[in-house]
Amino acid sequence: MKIAETARQVREVLNPVRRAEKTLGLVPTMGALHEGHLSLIDAARADCDFVAVSIFVNPLQFGPNEDLAAYPRAPERDLAACEARGVGLVFLPPVEAMYAGECLTQVSVARLSETLCGASRPGHFAGVCTVVTKLLHIVQPDRAYFGAKDYQQAAIIRKMVFDLDFPLTVVVCPTVREADGLAMSSRNAYLTPEQRRQAPALYGALKMAEGLIRRERPPADAVQAAVRRYLARHAADGMIDYVQIVDPAELSDVQTTDSAVLIALAVKFGGARLIDNLLVDAPGGDD
Ligand code: PAJ
Repeated sequence: MKIAETARQVREVLNPVRRAEKTLGLVPTMGALHEGHLSLIDAARADCDFVAVSIFVNPLQFGPNEDLAAYPRAPERDLAACEARGVGLVFLPPVEAMYAGECLTQVSVARLSETLCGASRPGHFAGVCTVVTKLLHIVQPDRAYFGAKDYQQAAIIRKMVFDLDFPLTVVVCPTVREADGLAMSSRNAYLTPEQRRQAPALYGALKMAEGLIRRERPPADAVQAAVRRYLARHAADGMIDYVQIVDPAELSDVQTTDSAVLIALAVKFGGARLIDNLLVDAPGGDD
């Protein structure tokens, strides 16, 4: 397994791969790798001849009061995990190599970036799109892998890739969960034992709402109210950031649940902001 810290080093490793017409998969991450990340690597390994993983805690996507400094970092463990999963190249750039000088250019996807997490994290998705654009240009993969845990992020990147004709396929992989349903996340490490005990209620609320929608197809605001009640009961220490029932493509609020909907939520436990979502298909599953 090769390790690169600069775009030039990446090209040196990947030029022969490309010349040999091997398919190249990229898994962009911020490190502190867990089974969720590793599932993307496994999917990439299954599809592609050569897999590159990037590990970069991207300052551009953190707001001024967010957890950039505290974000968990474990490069040695990450490298061992990548090696064990058959990764060919890890791109681990220092911040100065990614952003030499001031970065005056931003890539942003309108509308889809303004709702859900975008409403409480202004500028976040422009930071994500800008760094993902740089990573895609540096690595030039045939396929890039993202997790459904960050549904909005994946939808925005898909749209960016479509709108700007990036020559690659975006692959979105299912959310990997702990045994009790909590979506795996590097930020779960911030939880106190009591918060960790309550955190599976996010998924519990989503499953409850899914059942309600499948049984009754109630108005979206009734589902939203039921989710809020569930969270109040089962995650009393959590502060709800949002609970939204949205159109899975547009990410805009819907009134009814007669067609496919995405239930999305964000809950803060102290400084830890956890997100989760669940897609409920249309009645008969034909949407
Ligand atoms: P990070 O949070 O490290 O996540 C990297 C990738 O792993 C993302 O595509 C994310 O959706 C996926 N992922 C995280 N937890 C997952 C889980 N439990 N199951 C399945 N996939 C999971 O997302 C980012 O980094 C950054 O915004 C990035 C895209 C790298 C740009 O900086």
